[in-house]
Amino acid sequence: MSRVVSGIRPTGKLHLGNYFGAVNSFLKMQEEHECFFFIADIHSLTTHPAPSDLHSNVKQVLAEHLAMGVDPEKCALFIQSDVKAIAELYTYMNMNAYLGELERSTSFKEKIRSQKDNVNAGLLTYPVLMAVDILAHHADFVPVGKDQQQHLEMTRTFANRFNHMYGNTYFNEPKAYSNTGKLIKVPGLTAQGKMSKSSGDADTIVFDEEDQVIRKKIMRAVTDNGPTEPGMLKSEGLQNLFDIMNLVSDKSTIAHFEELHQTAQIRYGDLKKQIAEDVLKFVAPIREKINHYKNDSKALAIAAKIGAEKANESANKTLQEVRGIIGFKNFYK
Ligand code: ADP
Ligand code: TRP
Repeated sequence: MSRVVSGIRPTGKLHLGNYFGAVNSFLKMQEEHECFFFIADIHSLTTHPAPSDLHSNVKQVLAEHLAMGVDPEKCALFIQSDVKAIAELYTYMNMNAYLGELERSTSFKEKIRSQKDNVNAGLLTYPVLMAVDILAHHADFVPVGKDQQQHLEMTRTFANRFNHMYGNTYFNEPKAYSNTGKLIKVPGLTAQGKMSKSSGDADTIVFDEEDQVIRKKIMRAVTDNGPTEPGMLKSEGLQNLFDIMNLVSDKSTIAHFEELHQTAQIRYGDLKKQIAEDVLKFVAPIREKINHYKNDSKALAIAAKIGAEKANESANKTLQEVRGIIGFKNFYK
């Protein structure tokens, strides 16, 4: 069985895009592979979160993933900082990472620009920590978006360099996981491409928001002036609304509005009202589950403990082997 590692940044609350992304990838992978899914709370220290924010963000993300159906029995769902071996391996791996290559990383260059006042060493060595997350579990596959491809490439470089340095083949090369199924990209509400928190608050439908807020956002979604004759092509904003409708509404409703559009009788206000009601129906039970988990500290504790045990077992084994390869020998055991 292949091993898969995926890190989740504990920033921002679950939106409709994240939901379909996770349901289509995590839920599928946990059935088919040995998966290590973790909340990357050590990575998030590069932005200096207040301790209470850090904890509530991690709790939020844990509750969200449990609510979506990530199953602690089927995978290792854990919190990065619960696995001390990661921090130790990071120390060792840092010795084999060179300043030049770290400075050339696109994400580091971007951070220098976006957080000028906080260019810390953790940002520079972020790819090393990420490599350790992956190599600690000897992952075969890592599901990565475009923005993380370079980090995965660097992981392979560090793995090969380690092997070369110690004359062995200890680490394998992790590959990008390509989802063979149809990947759903949920469009945003502001016609700027996929739904993303980086496109602004108005772009996303967030599970944790009040019904009224969600309604308002959908009613303000970017469209156009309306079709002037039958059979007109849809503008990007309008197509996005239909795409969202396809995810949450039933077939007859979709067919009804398609027909109204085809015959140029559509009223966008009605379309948006319908989408808003169907989105709210879709969101409600998931939101309820997220809140249920957030208030069930026992369930969170059990999930985090099972995950930590699995991840520690795997990472500690790697740590002991790496210590041996490096040449650390214990005098007193
Ligand atoms: P954002 O773009 O809002 O910052 P993230 O980059 O934090 O979202 O994404 C976290 C996860 O959710 C990733 O696995 C990503 O592929 C998935 N995801 C994010 N937005 C979408 C979307 N609009 N459609 C499908 N999946 C998405
Ligand atoms: N860097 C990833 C991101 O920004 C998160 C991450 C950290 C990760 N460690 C990882 C992803 C290991 C995959 C594997 O989204």
